[in-house]
Amino acid sequence: MSGCEVFNKVLLTDFLEVNRQKLRSWLQDEGGCSLDWTPFLQHVCKLEGRPPSAWTEKAARLRQVIVDIVPIDVHRPQPLALDVLPVAGADCLVSSYCLESASPDLAAFNRALGNIGRLLRPGGHLLLIGTLGMSYYFGGPGVKIPTVPVNEVQVCASLKESGYTLIRLEVYTLPQDCLESGVFFVKALRK
Ligand SMILES: C[S@@+](CC[C@H](N)C(=O)[O-])C[C@H]1O[C@@H](n2cnc3c(N)ncnc32)[C@H](O)[C@@H]1O
Repeated sequence: MSGCEVFNKVLLTDFLEVNRQKLRSWLQDEGGCSLDWTPFLQHVCKLEGRPPSAWTEKAARLRQVIVDIVPIDVHRPQPLALDVLPVAGADCLVSSYCLESASPDLAAFNRALGNIGRLLRPGGHLLLIGTLGMSYYFGGPGVKIPTVPVNEVQVCASLKESGYTLIRLEVYTLPQDCLESGVFFVKALRK
């Protein structure tokens, strides 16, 4: 949501068609979207120092810059179809709550981090958000999805091994009754 203010082309990705369809229905703005993103847009406007009422402008800007919604598989060496990105790679990549929830173990998490790095141009930025110490989550009522529990040290080591320079790491520690011990926010640069 903040990225649309600085980038003119934004590509959205997800593994599942059902998730891509949800995004598409918001993008098309034809009333078929069951998710109301208004509070999120308002909150981001507030964080950006703008009045929450600016959310309509942000929604319009988002709809203008999102060029496509495409499939991705972070476990493939080439996670996206060949022709969707510029040959040089993307300037910036945002990945949230994906790698640890899509990876069965740490080795797969590390490989996936390397795979998505190839989507970035050298010098491009990665914004990576994920959970720490979480071994499962619920994708819906009774749908328990296993995840790989990673810690802060492993995330930093994985970034280093995968050719990134860590610029900033923030960790929020969560109360003990949560599924995860914390959430990490990484800003890194692809070497
Ligand atoms: C916990 S959800 C996070 C969704 C969203 N990115 C967010 O921040 O709320 C995990 C996401 O990983 C996606 N996923 C599962 N397997 C994947 C894969 N092999 N490659 C890329 N994404 C995958 C799922 O479709 C799902 O949208």
